Amino acid sequence: MLLLNASGCLDALTAPETARQLDAFVTKTVTPEPREGNPPVRIAETQHGMLNAIGLANPGRERFLAGTLPALRELGVPLWVSVGGFCAEDYAETCSRLDGVTVELNLSCPNVDEAPESAAEIVAACRAVTELPLYAKLSPAAWDIGEVARAVEAAGADGLSLVNTIRGLALDERLRPSLARATGGYSGPALKPIALAAVYACRRVTPLPIVGMGGVQTGRDVLELVACGATHVALGTVLFGDSDAPARVRSELVEAVSAAGFTRVEDAFCAALEAVRDASFDASFYVGELVYPNVVGQGLREMTFRVVAPAAWADRVRQADWKAMAALPWILMPSMSTHSQLARTMFREHGVEPGHVIEANQESLIANLVVSGVGVSLLPDPLALDLQAAGQVCIWEKAVLRGTLWFIYLRERANDPLIQGLVEVLRETWAPGKTGTGDVPPSSRNTADAGGTTRSTIC
Ligand SMILES: Cc1cc2nc3c(=O)[nH]c(=O)nc-3n(C[C@H](O)[C@H](O)[C@H](O)COP(=O)(O)O)c2cc1C
Repeated sequence: MLLLNASGCLDALTAPETARQLDAFVTKTVTPEPREGNPPVRIAETQHGMLNAIGLANPGRERFLAGTLPALRELGVPLWVSVGGFCAEDYAETCSRLDGVTVELNLSCPNVDEAPESAAEIVAACRAVTELPLYAKLSPAAWDIGEVARAVEAAGADGLSLVNTIRGLALDERLRPSLARATGGYSGPALKPIALAAVYACRRVTPLPIVGMGGVQTGRDVLELVACGATHVALGTVLFGDSDAPARVRSELVEAVSAAGFTRVEDAFCAALEAVRDASFDASFYVGELVYPNVVGQGLREMTFRVVAPAAWADRVRQADWKAMAALPWILMPSMSTHSQLARTMFREHGVEPGHVIEANQESLIANLVVSGVGVSLLPDPLALDLQAAGQVCIWEKAVLRGTLWFIYLRERANDPLIQGLVEVLRETWAPGKTGTGDVPPSSRNTADAGGTTRSTIC
């Protein structure tokens, strides 16, 4: 886990000792042209946080590249450059001029007018011009931040930064707005629950690394973000009042980890997510990638899924490419389910997202809905082939999804007699040939022989 500063909350050139306490330094957002920012008053204290309407004041790209960036490199700390702009070309041009840094795309400043392009379009434009790691910094104000996360991932983002400030307003005693611009970005302690919810929502839909931020003041706050799925954490407003915050937070984190019953901070990763983790059940069956480090599994057998459509759509479906298939109505199980994750991963690998999704929570219901002409879906091989043979569905031949069916349980309960007994029974009943598989930790995912990856293949 890396500890960073949040963009705009630390000037590394005036506080190099604070910057050196961090694992990487994130610059203030750089825009193509110099910006004075908004007129004063630009900062207001409120009861539970801070309102700022700085408005991306910065020296502009040319002065940044010629002066600020070389000076920052002297610090000897890995650098992340926060890139801003007002159209996709602005962002892309700055990205194309950078090297040796990680890029954080500020897609979410509440103090400037929105860029006309969507977050995904900006990410795609930057992806086209750079191979540098690209983090998309998102606004917590999005109605469905998970959807934005999926879209920027499909556009080529390597990670997410969550969250930027949220728009707020404070009044003075005479009931006039405290800030000259009236509204500003709200940060600090009140933002923490909002940041936790955003990280949690995005972790449910993407395996991308996430930098969590928003109201972090203590080691416990860092741990909570990690428990919701953050891989790294950034300190923002806290740095204005405590220049020693990185060192303090790090030492508090050690205590917070053991107080919460863990040995290492990594063990708490995703602890808050609904999984086997919540101990509401002992074990489960699962098809797909094992993304939680604390969940391990026993591979039972290979499964194949087919894309099925109503029989009457056969002509349309035979010709369809990935984009056309994604545009059809999809019947999927709820978003956390294996079924939904399989379909979404399949499309993401081809740069598209299913547009219209109808939820159904049982395989038999899904099969009925497809047969009755409601939409398309994924069904396991034998069922799909039977329905096709009966003339009730047609199969889209361009995708076959293969994955391992896992029996999963918590890593810490691997030696529990109950779990061991279940594994034994399952080995005998389900997969007599696969007894040597053993625990396959998630670190082995994406390897061809681990069986933990579900891939869609073009026939
Ligand atoms: C004074 C100030 C300036 C900021 N400037 C930027 C910026 O230039 N770019 C950016 O992406 N976020 C900026 N932010 C947002 C922070 O990076 C961070 O996302 C937000 O403050 C939430 O974290 P916190 O509650 O720990 O401060 C700024 C925040 C503050 C308070």
